[in-house]
Amino acid sequence: NANAQSDSGSRDRLATNSRLIVVSNRLPVTIKVDSSQPGGYSFALSSGGLVSALSGAKKRMSFTWIGWPGLSVPTREDELFIESKLEKEYSCRPVWLDPDVADAHYNGFSNSILWPLFHYHPGEMNFDEGNWLAYREANLRFAESVREIVRKGDMVWVQDYHLMLLPLMLRTLIEGSSAQGSVSQRELEHVRHGVDGSSHLAHSSGLAAPPGSEAAEHSAAQVASGHSHRTSTTATNLNVQSGTTAQAVAAMEEDDEDGDGKGRGTADGTTSRGSVKIGFFLHTPFPSSEIYRILPVRREILLGVLHCDLVGFHTYDYARHFLSSCTRILGLPTMPNGAEFEGRYVHVGTYPIGIEPAQFIEGLARDAVKTRMRALERRFEGVKIIVGVDRLDYIKGIPQKLHALETFLQEHPEWVGKVVLVQVAVPSRQDVEEYQNLRAIINEAVGRINGRFGTVESMPIHFIHRSVNFEELCALYAISDACLVTSTRDGMNLVSYEYIACQQQRNGVMILSEFAGAAQSLNGSLIVNPWDKFAVADAIHEALTMASVTRKANFDKLSRYVNKHTASWWGTSFVAE
Ligand code: ADP
Ligand code: F6P
Repeated sequence: NANAQSDSGSRDRLATNSRLIVVSNRLPVTIKVDSSQPGGYSFALSSGGLVSALSGAKKRMSFTWIGWPGLSVPTREDELFIESKLEKEYSCRPVWLDPDVADAHYNGFSNSILWPLFHYHPGEMNFDEGNWLAYREANLRFAESVREIVRKGDMVWVQDYHLMLLPLMLRTLIEGSSAQGSVSQRELEHVRHGVDGSSHLAHSSGLAAPPGSEAAEHSAAQVASGHSHRTSTTATNLNVQSGTTAQAVAAMEEDDEDGDGKGRGTADGTTSRGSVKIGFFLHTPFPSSEIYRILPVRREILLGVLHCDLVGFHTYDYARHFLSSCTRILGLPTMPNGAEFEGRYVHVGTYPIGIEPAQFIEGLARDAVKTRMRALERRFEGVKIIVGVDRLDYIKGIPQKLHALETFLQEHPEWVGKVVLVQVAVPSRQDVEEYQNLRAIINEAVGRINGRFGTVESMPIHFIHRSVNFEELCALYAISDACLVTSTRDGMNLVSYEYIACQQQRNGVMILSEFAGAAQSLNGSLIVNPWDKFAVADAIHEALTMASVTRKANFDKLSRYVNKHTASWWGTSFVAE
């Protein structure tokens, strides 16, 4: 990222000339119906890596944040109340989605198809045409919302796997109808007809699909039949959905006589290619092309993202997997830093995300946190504490963590009663079946291990299945002797960064899964394979018995990295590039 780091000139230009619009599915605030609050709604900070990082980055760069508010409300008055509160207090704009579309987009396609696949869990993947149509519909709603405020010269930065079609739809909506560049009628067709249109798009756009390649064969067959293999089975559903989409496209085609800079293209009515810069960042892994190609709509998702100027990933491996999917599935010529697509070069880069360590330092200085730390230290006097903080998600490897602890206690009975695992499992995506099953599996394991090694005086696992507040989180991180992250796949994992930020005093040990993106950055951690419970048990032993001089040397390396590669550094680097 030498370019990104050194390009302060670009940053200055950004500050003076361009507005930044960030689009993510989740907003930094979670809104709930609450009759005890003014207006009937409560507003609380959201959790999760994306929100933490963007909220951190927001301290250094100003942007409008567009996202789904997470609920639907009964009247337009309610919407207006929420819109005004979000705009005034959080610089956010909500995208209102029909509840069925929101459910099928978020729980259905995003979290039951893309999420498991991108984390190497194809067995949990549940492909369903209705969910795909809802995904398209939601992406289009987001694109329309951006279009209402975007102006020529702006930058739009799209976040994460919920919105992979948004770059294509946005280009088409803001540039398509009077495009002077390569966005053209066939891309409008793609928005209008979705699955059909995209195979047609890829075929007719002169992509370099090698003869006989998968891309060439599929395009040829689909164009010949006029249908993809999926559309024929759900024609009714498709008609309904493409009707909705077609209305939006038709509205766009009536287009832009208002010239007010709000929507229908850009302020001066010129909507040439490149009048708006679009970036995309994926917060999850991008899997090997061997896994990615399982996805029935693998072409459409790639095409959606390729309408960006810059596509970013946490690690070099994820970027490489993306590019090899572009080559193998679409037949595109690629280089290590990008792909040629429709006569343009789409830049692809690595931008490891971070946290704002200062927030944690400031947190640790609060009286409430100090008091809580003292109370916890008294409670666990003479006992070593291992902390785990994860959303209750199957990618976090919580069962693997529990089995490793069980193995450790079995192999080192001298530690029974002298070590505890405090595991915070934040409830997440509870409408998705796999998450409900996971909860039962974890409850069973916690009960079994506590039953096996617990005494009247102590239990080896303290399991907290709810959200804890920031002060409690800081105190827990700070008083723990080790942090255990056993994700079976994880885009980055910010909990590991946060633990390090809170360990100035204790110099605790970070035990980190090799399958978390953070393992490629956090040199100084004990790196483990979470599937090998003996190796993790050994690492726990090593952490608990490590000499303080070694802990200090490791901590110094980790701390330097975390303090340099912050969330603002990540955000400004990407935007500058
Ligand atoms: P993911 O993005 O998969 O959730 P990360 O480890 O990258 O995983 O990020 C988790 C983020 O959620 C961290 O910033 C962490 O502090 C935050 N978080 C974890 N638990 C809570 C909680 N109880 N309340 C609020 N935020 C939390
Ligand atoms: O890390 C991927 C991610 O989707 C983040 O974008 C998000 O912060 C986190 O997982 C939590 O997900 P959700 O928004 O579904 O609660």
